[in-house]
Amino acid sequence: MTEWLNAMNDPFAELQNYQQAALAAIQNADSEATIEAVRIEFLGQKKGRLKNLQALFGKLDKEQKPLFGKQFNEIKTLVSQRLEEKQAALSSPVTALEAIDITLPGVAVSPGKRHPLTQTIEEFKDIVGRFGFSVVEGPEIEDEWHNFNALNIPESHPARDPLENFYLAAAEVSSGGPVLLRSQTSTVQIRIMEQTEPPIRIVSVGRVYRPDTIDATHSCMFHQMEGLMIDTNVTMAQLKTVLSMFARAYLGDGVEVRFRPSFFPFTEPSVEVDMLWDGNWLEIGGAGMVDPAVLEAVGYDPEQVTGFAFGLGIERFCMKRHEINDIRRFYENDIRFLRQF
Ligand code: PHE
Repeated sequence: MTEWLNAMNDPFAELQNYQQAALAAIQNADSEATIEAVRIEFLGQKKGRLKNLQALFGKLDKEQKPLFGKQFNEIKTLVSQRLEEKQAALSSPVTALEAIDITLPGVAVSPGKRHPLTQTIEEFKDIVGRFGFSVVEGPEIEDEWHNFNALNIPESHPARDPLENFYLAAAEVSSGGPVLLRSQTSTVQIRIMEQTEPPIRIVSVGRVYRPDTIDATHSCMFHQMEGLMIDTNVTMAQLKTVLSMFARAYLGDGVEVRFRPSFFPFTEPSVEVDMLWDGNWLEIGGAGMVDPAVLEAVGYDPEQVTGFAFGLGIERFCMKRHEINDIRRFYENDIRFLRQF
């Protein structure tokens, strides 16, 4: 407190205070009007802070006067000079065009890219679109009817084990029946057939969920593309043709497709589909002729219509094409990984 009072009474400290305040005010002035107000406050001839400082002169001891006078003049000159510079700058502002140095080198800004899986999905849709399949959507939270019953998966089937599925306990209470995150996109087949009369030719792409142990080739969430074709005389030969054409369109003419006998409750006969690529057989999904029990479940007459269905793993294709060795890369979203695609 006393130090501050002393400073107030010390004429040399007053000089310093004046200089600091004046220079700060000049720097902050942002218009011709404000710089004029600063000029009047700090350099005004009749009154103002400079006059107050001059008045201190009379209170000084004789021997202090020369030093005070010298400092006073220096500070006045400095403040006047800065003020004039600022006045000049504010009265002739540079135009936006002058402010840009067009000779400076440009900096490229990356516009960003779509996720590699999104790119793969877009390409898949494009290919099957050329075969006449239209794209439909289905919900990721499903009831047991669409995920199991209608797909001919009975109550006792191990695929319904709660340990093999993500059942949603809270949602069950509010909806009145068990619901789960869909474990396959085959659910969409049922939803479409329930709403549509044949003929049908659709694909549906989306996420599916299984509580698998996560490793380089397994994730508890991944993507499938489901295909369904229903008409009066759909055959296994057509299924094979469509999948072979799809494989060639995505991977090139040299690719070979192999069908291995398998079992799915909703197709009969059922096959597993492999592709020969770079000398290795790669399992890409399941397929088969739609089981008559499924056609009946959605109200179709199995005597009138037949159909095929397939389910392909999207990550598999993308990993193979880009030599990605770990499925977890897709979901970590490390920008260094994503930038490569
Ligand atoms: N839904 C099966 C799976 O997820 C794949 C499949 C789809 C099989 C359609 C046959 C017909 O493994």
